[in-house]
Amino acid sequence: MPVYMAVDPGASTPGLYTRVMDPIVGASLGILMRWIHITSVITAIGGLLYAGLVIAPALSSLPAETRPEFAAAVNNRFRPLLRLAIVALIVSGIYNLVTKANLPPGYHMWFGIKMLLALHVIAVSFLLSSSSVTQERRTRMTTGVVISAGVIVLLSAYLRFLSNWMQS
Ligand code: HEM
Repeated sequence: MPVYMAVDPGASTPGLYTRVMDPIVGASLGILMRWIHITSVITAIGGLLYAGLVIAPALSSLPAETRPEFAAAVNNRFRPLLRLAIVALIVSGIYNLVTKANLPPGYHMWFGIKMLLALHVIAVSFLLSSSSVTQERRTRMTTGVVISAGVIVLLSAYLRFLSNWMQS
C-alpha cells in the first residue's frame, strides 16, 4: 500500500504530500541490498585472496609446461564471477548511499576516501582477471588489492558508526 508523507509538516499551506516507499518494502530492499553488498565483497576479495595466496604458490609445484594452461583455466572460471560481484557491489553501494537517512558531518569525506580505494580495487580486479598479467606482477597486485580492501572494510565500519551514532 502506498504511504504519503507531508512535504513540509510546518508549512503554512497544508495539503502538499509526497509518496514515500512502503516501510516493509523499504526495509526488505535495504536488507537485500546490504546482503548483496556483503556477499559481493566476500566473493571478490575472498576470491582474489585465494587466487593470490593459495593458487599462485601452488602453481609452482606443477610442471612448468602445464602452468599456463592451468592458470588460464582458473582465470576463465573466476573472471565472470568477479565481474558480476563488482557490478553488484557498485549497484548495491549506490542504493545504500542514496537511501541513507542520516549523513553527519565528515561522512562524505570518509566516503570519498573509500571510493578512491574502491576504484583501486575495481581497476586492479579487472586487470588481474585478464590473462595478460605476468605471475610476478599478479602476486604484487593481489597484495595491494587485499590491503586496500582491508582498509575499505574498516572505513565502511566507521561510516556505519558515523551514520548510526552521529547526528547530521
Ligand atoms: C571494493 C569495494 C568495496 C568494499 C570492499 C566495500 C565494503 C563494504 C562493507 C564491508 C560495508 C559494511 C556493510 C554493512 O555493515 O552494512 C559497506 C557499506 C557500504 N558501502 Fe561499500 N564496499 C565497496 C564498494 C562500495 C561502492 C562502490 C559503493 C558506492 C557506490 C559503496 C557504498 C557503501 C555504502 C553507502 C555503505 C553503507 C555505509 C554506512 O553504513 O553508512 N561501497 N561496504
